Amino acid sequence: MAGFDRADPVIMGHILSQHRELHEQITAVRHAFALSPAAVPDRPAVLHARLVELRDHLHGHFRQEEAGGFMEESLARMPRLARAARAVLGQHPTLLAEIDRLIATLPASDAPPAEWARATADFERLTAHLLDHERQENAVVQEGYNEDLGLA
Ligand SMILES: [Fe+2]
Ligand SMILES: [Fe+2]
Repeated sequence: MAGFDRADPVIMGHILSQHRELHEQITAVRHAFALSPAAVPDRPAVLHARLVELRDHLHGHFRQEEAGGFMEESLARMPRLARAARAVLGQHPTLLAEIDRLIATLPASDAPPAEWARATADFERLTAHLLDHERQENAVVQEGYNEDLGLA
């Protein structure tokens, strides 16, 4: 059957492993938010570093997805998925803008608790958007494969 002798499963595996890495990085940021400011005075610096790591990871990951070999492969076979794939890839700039805004508005170490609560809520919202994005992406690719293999 078509599919097994192509390079796509390798590319898909690569993207999926990046999605797993993304989950680990999100967890690392969440832990940094949960650090006690009293116990870890440089928490803002730690958070900033973790968020920049996450941002760089996203930037590289998005570029690879947009460069093709991932969605593109599914699309070549399943033109009817093209609209869904374009829509999901079109979310990348908004997601990057969201994390850039969070990094730019991180409170200082002596900021009032309300500011930290706002930053934590912004991060949880970003996390929800990112996970939703990856879920949609996985669904598009999965649907392409299922159809290609006659499973749909
Ligand atoms: Fe993506
Ligand atoms: Fe992705």
